[in-house]
Amino acid sequence: MTAPLVQLVDIPQHGDARGGLSVAELGGALPFLVRRVYWIHGTKPGVSRGFHAHKELRQFCVCVAGSVRMSLFDGRREESVVLDSSAKGLLIGPGLWREIHDFSSDSVLMVLADAEYDESDYIRDREQYIRNAR
Ligand code: TYD
Repeated sequence: MTAPLVQLVDIPQHGDARGGLSVAELGGALPFLVRRVYWIHGTKPGVSRGFHAHKELRQFCVCVAGSVRMSLFDGRREESVVLDSSAKGLLIGPGLWREIHDFSSDSVLMVLADAEYDESDYIRDREQYIRNAR
């Protein structure tokens, strides 16, 4: 059986009567040391993002408000998942083509990454990606 492309991780919840509190820490929900955090917010209607793969980077994506649909492609199979909860993280390992669609207007997609920004780690050409994936 082939491994699923979508790897969802449960994020421990410590909410109480005051509200929510979600924790991603090394040895818990997080399988790597975080070296960079960014978040995508205020996305305009109809915009999709991503359209690239990373050669080495590992990422952990949490939609901390609203919802997005993340599509993952390995050159042969495509899988899609709606992220709409602070209680679920999507792990994206190296070598997967990702697209992000259907941003709700209130969405905030937080991405934890195991390395600093490096443009040379990107593959932005889908045809090149597919050729490399073969
Ligand atoms: P990009 O990764 O292309 O966004 P997306 O794939 O989601 O559409 O990043 C958009 C721009 O922001 C690009 O010029 C690179 C820059 N950027 C950084 O400088 N540092 C970062 O950590 C990220 C994620 C992007």
